[in-house]
Amino acid sequence: MSSPKKLFIKTYGCQMNVYDSERMAEELGAQGYVTTDTAESADMILLNTCHIREKAAEKVYSELGRLKPLKELNPDLKIGVAGCVAQAEGEEIMRRQPAVDLVVGPQSYHRLGAMEARTRTGARALDTDFPEEDKFSHLAARPKARRAPAAFLTVQEGCDKFCAFCVVPYTRGAEVSRPAARVLTEARDLVERGVREVTLLGQNVNAYHGDMTLAELIRALGQIDGLERIRYTTSHPNDMGDDLIAAHVEEPKLMPYLHLPVQSGSDRILKRMNRSHTAESYLRLIERIRAARPDIVLSGDFIVGFPEETEADFQATLDLVQEVGYGYAYSFKYSTRPGTPAAERPQVAADVADARLQRLQALITRQQRAVQESMVGRELSVLVEKPGREAGQVIGKSEYLHAVHIVDATAQVGEIAHVRIVKAMTNSLRAEQI
Ligand code: SAH
Ligand code: SF4
Ligand code: F3S
Repeated sequence: MSSPKKLFIKTYGCQMNVYDSERMAEELGAQGYVTTDTAESADMILLNTCHIREKAAEKVYSELGRLKPLKELNPDLKIGVAGCVAQAEGEEIMRRQPAVDLVVGPQSYHRLGAMEARTRTGARALDTDFPEEDKFSHLAARPKARRAPAAFLTVQEGCDKFCAFCVVPYTRGAEVSRPAARVLTEARDLVERGVREVTLLGQNVNAYHGDMTLAELIRALGQIDGLERIRYTTSHPNDMGDDLIAAHVEEPKLMPYLHLPVQSGSDRILKRMNRSHTAESYLRLIERIRAARPDIVLSGDFIVGFPEETEADFQATLDLVQEVGYGYAYSFKYSTRPGTPAAERPQVAADVADARLQRLQALITRQQRAVQESMVGRELSVLVEKPGREAGQVIGKSEYLHAVHIVDATAQVGEIAHVRIVKAMTNSLRAEQI
């Protein structure tokens, strides 16, 4: 018997791409592929790409250039591009890089098996449709293998918000929610395989409306025995309903962590971004969330140097960050994306944007440290995900999503350990088991 064909997948971008890569590997698994950790040993290389910022998209072309010579060593090697760059620039990828055999978008990868077969006849395959059918019901059945204790689960995809800077509504398409019954079945299935924590994914996860609300779905998931923790990301401030806030109080399995991007603290900029909320409405929302769940750790996303952003606008962002006090925050320099409305507006000079980014990041870093320091001395629970580097050490996540190293641990992977935090380190916490 010939040895199985090998698949190497490289994933860029967001958590949904991580989930999609897993599903694509399973889809090709049904065609006899096993995954490999090196591009050199692969019969199929798949880049699952991100289009969110210019740098992310450019990386794909340079990576393809690096991979191309591998085809001389292995004439049977096929190279594919998936994800959001594939969706946005499918034809251009084919034109710019003749070594690419296959291009598949985020909504059509259930057809990957048939596409792969076509490449084996020497043809090139491109599919960036937004098909009528639901890809999830056409994908290969998930393998029965044991899994890591934390898993992603896509429940909602696409975006109808059209923020003026963002490509996601174009690359992922309109908002679609998966039926709740399917999500619950997939979650039960994951739990049978050892999963203890699921993170529900959606571009606007709290806009979920698959015959129930996200809050109702979370409560239904809470009924699954063996599922210990539930998270969800990414939420939009305008879809943060009272029932979801209440779920943070009433559903013990829902973790006290919320990623709630605001992008800017200036109403003038928020309006130009087409965010349809104000800084004030965001701050009042945070107030309501904290009134319900005072210990919640908040995270956010920020864009600096958006077209026409003045020093005063930027100062308003710093003020908002100061007022909220984030446990984590992700800040990005505005990146002009072709085809988005903001690309047409007067741009901020790169050096000005760079300087603002540095100032914002310094503030965020101080806040993150403060939140981490505030954990020292506290008793937390940690889902153990893997062994640590030192003997007797294990690594997991606290309910607040901090990485925690437990020293002299007795807890095994997949167990929830009760710990006391003894020290805050740069990117993690150190703890003792109690
Ligand atoms: N659906 C989510 C995440 C979208 S992408 C949301 O609504 O927040 C993740 C983050 O990338 C965004 O929150 C935004 O901060 C950033 N981003 C999106 N487009 C960008 C652009 N053109 N330039 C810089 N950052 C961008
Ligand atoms: Fe992009 Fe805005 Fe949609 Fe988020 S809400 S995916 S930032 S358009
Ligand atoms: Fe990137 Fe697409 Fe996710 S553009 S952030 S991979 S939805």
